[in-house]
Amino acid sequence: MLDIACGAGRWTKVLADKFGNRRVIGLDLSDAMLAAVQLALPGILTVRANALSLPFGTATLGAANCFAALQIMPDPAKVIAEIGRSLKPDGTFTLGTLRPAPRPVQRYFQRRQEEVFRTRSFHFTELETWIHAAGMRICHHIAPACFHFVTARRL
Ligand SMILES: C[S@@+](CC[C@H](N)C(=O)[O-])C[C@H]1O[C@@H](n2cnc3c(N)ncnc32)[C@H](O)[C@@H]1O
Repeated sequence: MLDIACGAGRWTKVLADKFGNRRVIGLDLSDAMLAAVQLALPGILTVRANALSLPFGTATLGAANCFAALQIMPDPAKVIAEIGRSLKPDGTFTLGTLRPAPRPVQRYFQRRQEEVFRTRSFHFTELETWIHAAGMRICHHIAPACFHFVTARRL
């Protein structure tokens, strides 16, 4: 179970608590973040790598999680393609990312943030297209406030 762009391990810990340290790998581009994961979850396997080119063989992962990170990736379609490539058939992909805020005032500030920090928000159809192209089918999607929470399975 790979936690992609795991940061300081907020969701890595949730996964490890539920499924056990030995079944979870934290992946991030930042050594500092991975050091924080090691402090929080001593002994957990971590890997420094780019989500755009996952260092795992084709159809080797049981599950992949990516929360609060797709919106800062330079090529989110490629990240999702990599997840689809790496997942075993029936493997699960859970995604938490941003959508354009529905309230105009909220969208105004979100847009400013996107411009300053070069982040993004996604329309569901975009995510859907990339997830399907990566060989996955969406089983669940909710979009509260300015978030998307998606669960998909590898075909
Ligand atoms: C906002 S944090 C989210 C961390 C964690 N998923 C969470 O929800 O707390 C985004 C993380 O993405 C990582 N990151 C950014 N670009 C990345 C890339 N191309 N490959 C892997 N990690 C990346 C950053 O180092 C950072 O730790």
